[in-house]
Amino acid sequence: MRWLTNFLFSSIGQKVVMSLTGLFLISFLVAHLSGNLQLLIDDGGQQFNQYAKFMTSNPLIKFISFGLYAGILLHAMQGLYIWINNKAARGGKGYAKKVTRAVGTNATAASNMAWWGILILIFLIIHMGDFWFAMKFGGSLEMLTYEGYDEPVKDLFTKVEATFNNPIFVIFYVLAMLGLAAHLLHGFQSAFQSLGLNHPKYTPLIKGIGTFIAVVIPLLFAIIPIFMYFGIYPLSSFLH
Ligand code: HEM
Repeated sequence: MRWLTNFLFSSIGQKVVMSLTGLFLISFLVAHLSGNLQLLIDDGGQQFNQYAKFMTSNPLIKFISFGLYAGILLHAMQGLYIWINNKAARGGKGYAKKVTRAVGTNATAASNMAWWGILILIFLIIHMGDFWFAMKFGGSLEMLTYEGYDEPVKDLFTKVEATFNNPIFVIFYVLAMLGLAAHLLHGFQSAFQSLGLNHPKYTPLIKGIGTFIAVVIPLLFAIIPIFMYFGIYPLSSFLH
């Protein structure tokens, strides 16, 4: 186990952990977004509720979820460690340059990333406390049985709808998505840079993809609470 802690605290280990967990979390965001867009289907939540049931009962997805929780914890803890270390180093003499270079980014960008990251962490605590907790442990969700299906499912859709009926939550989600956009804008390309995947030909393409991801993912996430608040359900079910 000692080799693992040595690796995690070495400058190369920090880079690898931050980059790989960051890219893994981005892939989660893409999957989570495509699932959540089903909230905008005009079917009273049937497809979303069936999907939520599948996501929380399928053994493979349950297993991947543990990787996700570990990924979130590692990314957040490692990020905070780097940030605190850089701050301490800037307080000292001569060491700042060394640490800054070690994590592969400049001090201002790293500090901004940390602040956006902390905002996202606060968002995640509130978000998971609300929806994830309700789905996993909350007994208050109503059970619904849909025509053609034997098994009853939890009505998570009504819970999400009730949350986004509150304008404070809608504003909170939109602001958090702005933080996510800022974090991804720097984070995606920085992950490739930290892994040493730099090439004059491909780096502009990576930056372009990073900008696209940083704009489109948070924008589509932000649209969900706004549309639900105004009762706009523009998508139609592809199950019927
Ligand atoms: C409008 C935006 C969003 C909505 C409506 C939404 C909705 C939900 C719901 C209903 C759940 C519980 C059911 C489930 O586990 O799948 C959930 C879980 C979760 N959400 Fe979100 N989400 C949104 C944005 C985000 C964002 C931006 C992040 C990350 C920055 C995020 C991270 C998570 C995580 C980590 C879980 C737990 C997943 C698991 O247990 O496998 N969500 N979300």
